[in-house]
Amino acid sequence: MRKPIIAGNWKMNKTPEEAKELVAALIPLVKDAACDVVVCPPFVDLCCVGNLIEGTNIRLGAQNVHWAEKGAFTGEISAEMLKARGVEFAIVGHSERRQYFGETDETVNKRALAALNAGITPIICVGESLEQRESGVTDAIVSSQTVAALNGMTNAQVESLVIAYEPIWAIGTGKTATKEDANATIGVIRRAIAGVFGEETAEKVRIQYGGSMNPKNAGELMAMPEIDGGLIGGASLKADDFSKVVHF
Ligand code: PGA
Repeated sequence: MRKPIIAGNWKMNKTPEEAKELVAALIPLVKDAACDVVVCPPFVDLCCVGNLIEGTNIRLGAQNVHWAEKGAFTGEISAEMLKARGVEFAIVGHSERRQYFGETDETVNKRALAALNAGITPIICVGESLEQRESGVTDAIVSSQTVAALNGMTNAQVESLVIAYEPIWAIGTGKTATKEDANATIGVIRRAIAGVFGEETAEKVRIQYGGSMNPKNAGELMAMPEIDGGLIGGASLKADDFSKVVHF
């Protein structure tokens, strides 16, 4: 059985003061959650959010991680630095990073491996654009992104990580994939993993859906057999909305 995991991706939102306010409101609302609950604030908020959630069931995630241990990489953060702040998860390869910041399948793989080696669980994002969906290459795209991201990993590493299927056209648009489409594409991702690492490993990987998931549609999406969680953007910025998704 795969334990559901709901993660909030705050993106470039919330000053430290605002972050503290949000998480303080969230703590009592999600304390009885049956699933894993993760918040991924911007780097500057990790310390204050980390301090507030200590001893609660909310776990800390970062929005990115660099592959090098340390050195001359201006503007980057290492896995070790994150780990030292109590970070347990790191989003890797979000489509916004692929689109605006030159992230490639190769750098996604390097970041994910660095996270794993530091004991941080990567949440690896894959997903097709609208153009790709309309031209019928969704399955090929998500399969190749997935296989590339997992390159060089052991079965145990693959079993421990999280994948987020996020159709790019559904992110921040209010358009959600239908539960059937989301379930089917996540099934494709799982079969791609099975093709390289075997059925048993693929069955253990938690695969989230992301893209305009909210209190209204979380229940029906989470009821689908392949969908093991959600990566939530907009709806994670309000404690009330996020807690409703957590209690899907
Ligand atoms: P959204 O973002 O929920 O605002 O669509 C999801 C994501 O990009 O992770």
